[in-house]
Amino acid sequence: MEIWKDCHVTVVVSGGIASYKALVLIRQLMKRGATVRVALTAHAAEFITPLTFQTLTRQPVVLNEFTTSDPSHVVHVALADWTDVMVLVPATANLIARVANGLADDAATSTILATTAPKYVVPAMNSHMYANPATQRNLRQLVADGLTVLTPADGMLAEGYAGRGRMPEPEAILAWLTDQQIQRTPSLPLTGRRVLVTAGGTREALDPVRYITNRSSGKMGYAVAAAARTMGAQVTLISAATHLRAPAGVQVLPVASAAELRDAVVTHFEACDLLVMAAAVSDYRPVQTNQQKIKKPQDHADLTLQLTETTDILKELATRKTHQYVVGFAAETQNLLANAQHKLTSKRLDLLVANDVSQPGVGFNGDTNQVTLLRPDQAPLTTALMSKRAVANQILTTVVAETGWQPQPK
Ligand SMILES: Cc1cc2nc3c(=O)[nH]c(=O)nc-3n(C[C@H](O)[C@H](O)[C@H](O)COP(=O)(O)O)c2cc1C
Repeated sequence: MEIWKDCHVTVVVSGGIASYKALVLIRQLMKRGATVRVALTAHAAEFITPLTFQTLTRQPVVLNEFTTSDPSHVVHVALADWTDVMVLVPATANLIARVANGLADDAATSTILATTAPKYVVPAMNSHMYANPATQRNLRQLVADGLTVLTPADGMLAEGYAGRGRMPEPEAILAWLTDQQIQRTPSLPLTGRRVLVTAGGTREALDPVRYITNRSSGKMGYAVAAAARTMGAQVTLISAATHLRAPAGVQVLPVASAAELRDAVVTHFEACDLLVMAAAVSDYRPVQTNQQKIKKPQDHADLTLQLTETTDILKELATRKTHQYVVGFAAETQNLLANAQHKLTSKRLDLLVANDVSQPGVGFNGDTNQVTLLRPDQAPLTTALMSKRAVANQILTTVVAETGWQPQPK
């Protein structure tokens, strides 16, 4: 299930310094399966030539509708009718003003006025232009007219000073657009389902500056959260330490230790339909956390740390489980299947995702994974080595197939 596959996206580019970023966004949309056509304002063509957009999209670019040599259709109406999704990026103060007032004084604004497709506006301008009451009034008008507007970022502007008005990076714009489109799609495989995901490696404090942790990057859990969101779920991600950016549309609850993670999971477990425990939760924590930094002893004697077991969250949840489908992960370096099978049964899991982290390209930190899916009373299913996002999709597709879930009303 891909939001952008075969989607007709019209990108309207106006004359701002950020217009070069539209090229990157267009590439990313096309990479995800969209067909993109571009309408340029005359001022946009001062920044980037129509030839660049035409070559990138392999589609004719609409600039001046009065010079067309094709008499079979009216340019702006044909493009408006073709459009499934329209994105105004970057949207200058001038374009925003024209659209807010219903003007159709060039091919771009005529197309915007003529289409009934959802319209997304990505403003980008100088901070004073953005803060100007006229621009703010025009943006409110766009929202009142049913367009969806992205708030610009706070940051360094082309003028050399910082302020609000900067266009977010294409990756962030794509994430926002994708999430908006998911919200508009009434029936996706996980629509109406609440999915709880844990990710990252927990940290068990030894003193104020040191902790025990593990090599988990959080990438697998974040991929599951993003994939579940793309499949329409309402997703809560309980995140132990990672350096990853929150997936769009996902509620992220940061935690540090195994105990904090356990409390957060228990709080949210009852209301969820699916729990995916992808976090690497420490099995042990120090018996004692020093309030002050542990100093080297004068005699340089060895330091012994005493550790005690943390709560086994999955085991605890096995007793609380009612309707929830529970997925666990097992990262092993030996006896993968035997250890995983034992974990599946002893913790009453519905699905266990086992990975042999001693293999190259598998498990911690990398962007790829190869896993074996274990379910009670079924033959194990081993995937190919593939991206963590593809593994996430496979896990969730398996869950949907196993549960027989049909999309629910939101
Ligand atoms: C170098 C340069 C950079 C500009 N950058 C922006 C910008 O980022 N945002 C904006 O709203 N206007 C910007 N402008 C002003 C617009 O180009 C101007 O308002 C123009 O009339 C916009 O026309 P359009 O909206 O039809 O493309 C810039 C102008 C120049 C000369």
